[in-house]
Formats: sequence, structure tokens, C-alpha cells
Amino acid sequence: MTDPHTDTTEWKNPLRDRQDLRLPRIAGPGGMVIFGVTGDLARRKLLPAIYDLANRGLLPASFALVGYGRRDWTREEFAEYVRQAVESGARTPVREEVWQRLVDGIHFVQGAFDDDAAFDRLADTLAQLDQSRGTAGNWAYYLSIPPDSFPSVCHQLDRAGLAESSGDNWRRVVIEKPFGHDLESAQELNQIVNSVFPEKSVFRIDHYLGKETVQNILALRFANQLFEPLFNANYIDHIQITMAEDIGLGGRAGYYDGIGAARDVIQNHLIQLMALIAMEEPVDFSPEHLQAEKIKILRATKPVQPLSKTTARGQYTEGWQGSHHVRGLREEEGFDPNSTTETYAACTLKVNSRRWAGVPFYLRTGKRLGRRVTEIALVFKTPPHLPFANRTTESLGANSMVIRVQPDEGVLMRFGSKVPGSTMEVRDVNMDFSYSESFTEQSPEAYERLILDALLDQASLFPTNEEVELSWKILDPVLEYWARRGTPDQYPAGTWGPASSDQMLAREGRAWRRP
Ligand code: BG6
Repeated sequence: MTDPHTDTTEWKNPLRDRQDLRLPRIAGPGGMVIFGVTGDLARRKLLPAIYDLANRGLLPASFALVGYGRRDWTREEFAEYVRQAVESGARTPVREEVWQRLVDGIHFVQGAFDDDAAFDRLADTLAQLDQSRGTAGNWAYYLSIPPDSFPSVCHQLDRAGLAESSGDNWRRVVIEKPFGHDLESAQELNQIVNSVFPEKSVFRIDHYLGKETVQNILALRFANQLFEPLFNANYIDHIQITMAEDIGLGGRAGYYDGIGAARDVIQNHLIQLMALIAMEEPVDFSPEHLQAEKIKILRATKPVQPLSKTTARGQYTEGWQGSHHVRGLREEEGFDPNSTTETYAACTLKVNSRRWAGVPFYLRTGKRLGRRVTEIALVFKTPPHLPFANRTTESLGANSMVIRVQPDEGVLMRFGSKVPGSTMEVRDVNMDFSYSESFTEQSPEAYERLILDALLDQASLFPTNEEVELSWKILDPVLEYWARRGTPDQYPAGTWGPASSDQMLAREGRAWRRP
């Protein structure tokens, strides 16, 4: 044994190390240009997230924010637009001294996505900001625009000399989904983007990966000894991944028609959640190691056949959302009443690996469902033998562990317990961990985390081109099958989707959880 008084190896103060980990990560000099800055996403999420980062002291004082768009705005008009977006969407209080610092770095460049002269003006603006504000030539270009505009914007950034990083500055591109509408179009887009920006400078946003509870999947699995031994086909009967929304299409009919629930949510958010639940332990959480494990899972994942029995899709009709009567999809403004675009999608995937052989992963998402909830439920096998009289376990269901991604972030364990009394009756009970009760800190918004990570060049939470392509490869057969089938089933707003989705599980002796 070493004597603690004579041992000369360096003593590490565990408390000091813990402090170090908690030090905030602050972005260095640089700025961001947002394309599509007048869009819904920029107004509701991106601009408030930038303010929240500034307010938390995580952006440099010299940060610059440049909007690019067609509107004929002065710098002041754009600043006013940002201010309104911040006031209605920021998570943290609006403080005048923070706002003043931010507004000094706000600029607007007017132009179309294929306008040479406007991109030259953009280049001049950025060069001036590099001088006046000290952004040092470090720029992130956020493409919050439809994918058919990616080629012109990438080409223009390249032409205007704005894309290439040099030894002393960086240029990155941050890309919003949808990233293609199938494997082929995603490959084309990847080629276009990668012909201008090297893959290490491309940050594809999947905002679910920026959510605290999604990152908690890694903590839950790999920081504990309690759960991981059970995460496999020996113990798990099946896994349900649900992303349900109570909202309808609202003003997004134009974007959504022709895309639908599977492309909008399953291809990215739900398949990423599945990969995090199913993957092996990464060597560490660096981008290459984390992505390598996800890629292994995605390569091993296939839809279960026959698709007529293992998938379901639907469109909402009028109905009741709580006490509100809401209209059906076909009556939504801007939506083609003959469209076959689905607002509900469910599919069954399998992972061909030793760990998961025979365990179905049921994925479902929909608009205008019973309530807004995203969760991952691991449903366990029943014990091989129950030494109880039959009737006393009638109320005992399968054990389950439910990771509640949102709202009511937390983890729920459901298992059998003896009912107090003189007989050995067993019934399901809940054991519940809730973020809001266990922590005083508020979770940052996903976009705060991801914008900061992109500015800091930390790519772990961004899917690579290969992940995006593999996800399309998994989903394409389902989309092709649906395209041949015509109109989706229907479900009244406020319910849990079409009957065909319940039948999909019932056929296998299972049922969806009613969250
Ligand atoms: C987006 C989808 O990616 O996620 C939207 O395009 C959906 O259709 C949204 O409403 C939901 O995000 P969140 O974070 O509210 O669950």
C-alpha cells in the first residue's frame, strides 16, 4: 500500500477537478450570419437563443450577428425585429446592458440567395466587422432555408471568398433540416455542401440532440451500473419511441405538405434517439467516437417486413383538443385537400446485432395527438415464472423504464409491488425521477447548446453526412411503400392516431403506452 504522506505521485483534488468541469465554455471571437432570418425558426428559436447565450455571458463581447434576406430593411429595422423576437422568445430576462452590447454588433444585408452583388456586399460587411468589432474572420453561416437554396448559397459563399478557412480563422456552415427528402437527394446535397465546406466545418442541426434529456441518455446508460446490464434482448421485450404533438400544422402547411411526419421527425429526431438508446459505449464523447457508435447501429438497422403490417400512417380530421374544437388537415389554410402527406407515422425497426436481435423498436410521431409528449419506453420481458396465484397478479403489467424527454423531463420506472393487506396481491407502481424536483438549474434550450457548440467547434451533438444518409436508407423503403399506397388512414384530432397504428402493435400482442 502507498503511504499517503510519502507517495509522490501528484495528488488530484477531486473538488478542484469538478469545479473545472463546471467552468462555462465561452465562445472565442467570431460572428454568425443567418440566412432565412425572417423565417419562423429564426424568430422563435435562433434569435432568442443567441440573446440567451449573450445574457449568460457565453458569447464574446464582440460577437456580431448578421441577417441576410430579401427584405428591404435598414440595420435599425432588423435590430427592432431581433428585439421583438428576443422579447417574445428568450428564456432569460431581457437586460438592457446585454441587449446594447448585442445590438452594436447587429447588421443586415439585403439580397437574394443567388445575387452576386449582394454576396459581395456581405463580404464587405464581414470584413468591416472583422476590423471594427474584432470578429477575426471567424464566421458561422446558419442556413435556415429550404434545401433547394443550399446550392446557391454555398456557391455564393465560395465565390465571394467567404467559405474558406485559413490558418488563423475559421468558416463553418450550420445546416437546418430537412436534409434532403430521400437518400439520393441527401447524397446530392452532401456533395454540394462538402464541395465548398470540408466535413469538419459542417454542422447539421438535429435539435433533439441539444436537449438535456437526450444527452441524459448517455449519462443514464454509461454513468450507472444499474441499467446498462439490462439494455439488451435478454431482458427487453420491445422499445417504444414516441414524439407526440398536440399542435396542428398552423402556418406551416407550405413547408409540411409533401414532407409529412416520417420525413419531418422520424428520419432525424427519432432515429437519432434510437441510435443513442441502442449503441454500444463509445470510447469517449468526442465526435469521432460517438458518431462511430451511432453509425454502427444505423448500419445494422432495417424496417421490419412486411411493411403492410409493421407501419401505419394517418391524417388528422376535425376533433377536440381539450375544450377546443379544431379543424381537420384538409381544412388547414394552404394545405392541398387531396394531399397524401401524413401527419401521423409509425414504423417498426430492428437492429441486427447480438445485443438487440429480436427486439422491435416501435417509432411513432404525429400532430394533433392527445397531448405533447416525447418519451422512450423500454418495456421489459415478463418474468419466466410467477410464483403467485393467478388472480393476484392480474393488475401486474410489464416492467418498464420510461425516459421522459419532454415535458416533465425525467425518468419513470414501473414495476410490481405488493398491495398492502393480508393477501399477496401485486400491482404496478411508479418510481419517478423529475428534473424539476432534483435540480434547481433550468435546462438551456436545445438551440442555445447547439449554437454554442458550433461556435466552439464541438461537433459531438451534430449528425455527420453518413448518419444522415444512413437514416434515409432506413426510411426510404417505408416512404416508397407508402407512396404506392395512396391516401393515409384518418384519425380525429385529439386522439392517439389511426386504428391501424394500434393494430400494428396488437398483432404482436403489444400495445402503445398512453402517456
Ligand atoms: C421540428 C419539426 O423538427 O420539431 C416540427 O419540424 C416539430 O414539425 C418540432 O413541431 C418539435 O420540436 P420540439 O422541440 O418542440 O419537440
